[in-house]
Amino acid sequence: MTAPWKIGMFQCAGLMGAWKLPENTATDFLDLGHWLTMARRCEEAGVDFLFFADDYGYPVVGEGIPATALRGGVQFPKADPTMILPALAAVTERLGLVTTLSTTVEKPPMVARKMATLDHMTNGRIGWNIVTGAGQNASARLFGLPMTEHDKRYEIAADHVDLSLKLWEGCWDEGGLVVDREAGVYADPDRVREISHDGPHFSSRGILTVPPGPQRTPMLFQAGASAPGRDLAARYAEAVFLAAEVPALAAQIADIRRRAEEYGRDPRSIRCLIAGTFVVAGTDAEARALRDRSTGTRSLDDAAASYAFFTGLDLSAMDPDKPLDVDAALTQTGRTNVERFLGPDAPTVREILEEFQRNSVMGAPFIGDASQVVDQAQAAIEATDADGFLVQPDHTGTFDSFLDLVMPELRARDLVETDRHPMTLRERLSGSGSPYLAPEHPGAAYRRDLSERSVFA
Ligand SMILES: Cc1cc2nc3c(=O)[nH]c(=O)nc-3n(C[C@H](O)[C@H](O)[C@H](O)COP(=O)(O)O)c2cc1C
Repeated sequence: MTAPWKIGMFQCAGLMGAWKLPENTATDFLDLGHWLTMARRCEEAGVDFLFFADDYGYPVVGEGIPATALRGGVQFPKADPTMILPALAAVTERLGLVTTLSTTVEKPPMVARKMATLDHMTNGRIGWNIVTGAGQNASARLFGLPMTEHDKRYEIAADHVDLSLKLWEGCWDEGGLVVDREAGVYADPDRVREISHDGPHFSSRGILTVPPGPQRTPMLFQAGASAPGRDLAARYAEAVFLAAEVPALAAQIADIRRRAEEYGRDPRSIRCLIAGTFVVAGTDAEARALRDRSTGTRSLDDAAASYAFFTGLDLSAMDPDKPLDVDAALTQTGRTNVERFLGPDAPTVREILEEFQRNSVMGAPFIGDASQVVDQAQAAIEATDADGFLVQPDHTGTFDSFLDLVMPELRARDLVETDRHPMTLRERLSGSGSPYLAPEHPGAAYRRDLSERSVFA
């Protein structure tokens, strides 16, 4: 990828990371002011978007949430980001706002309605992170449903996205919303129609009641790197979040681009973003000391609870001196973090716990002063063919060190976009100049009468 890199910032509307440190503000997650400040800071610093991860889950081991997860604040508690996003839209103009809605939990017309509404409220700056969902065992219990098996969740996801696309693209033609007071015409019956969908998992006949927003379809993101996850990304995603070590990232990105080509899409139209941890300070020694302080806040029990959240597996009940003894293909919760620790050089269970204590689902961090971390990030981009980063919060729970130290360095090296004009999130990330899905995207086939015109033109 040549510059500009795309830069997003990772949060969930909940407790995360090194909350035990006195300077950490993640415990303010129920205070709207916390989020308003963060969004303003991100916009001022010129990052492309703020992303809120989301799910209904929490670690479940055996019969319920382990006490250690409650005490340690591991993937728990958290609030609903869709309730926070409109407030952030009101205090920003350029910042993209992205959140997750799970295709396993939410029904397509609900996703379509929420996202279309948010597309209006953000002036075309909304993105949907499509996931089948982490914490599946917990969310199945919460909803009182049997757990849907892993690969079936991805089949459901594809059908879900297909129907959602029809609702966004197919119901309203351009000009369908007339609002002519004199003629007494609100919407033109010739330009608004019911879609019909008879998929393997969803059937629908109806109209999306929300007229199309500036992007029509929200910018589509995806996360979940198992083979069916990569296939879903290749089929529909315009940006993908990936977290792994560099060699695995390179393989995943190459695989997604190859699959995209097989689906008739431009493989370069998918923005592959590395979920990266930047531990940055004035000097390398200070950065390393920060790193040790953050790691010291997480116990091995916390690591086990976190691992259980992502995979449904209880490492604390396994022999610490042996590698994982599971068949990834039979794991029904999440697979990315099972597959990651299998193979010829498989680590022991103890080593997996230590790795999760240090880095959780992320690859090794970029550590040092601003110049060093940008050198390391540049090497990662070159080795993986990625398009940018999804930056994890620092030890304070926010992004101050990245915004204050790394962004100026990226700008000085011409590695990020400096154009500060308002535009839709799709325009900002795709660089295509259009707020709409690319013509070869499967969703584009569902629309009629749409001229390629930006609402900001
Ligand atoms: C950066 C990043 C962000 C993610 N955000 C979410 C999220 O918000 N909600 C969620 O349920 N899963 C999220 N995931 C993906 C889950 O880990 C994934 O859905 C889960 O592991 C199941 O998919 P898999 O079997 O393909 O791994 C994220 C993954 C990455 C790398």
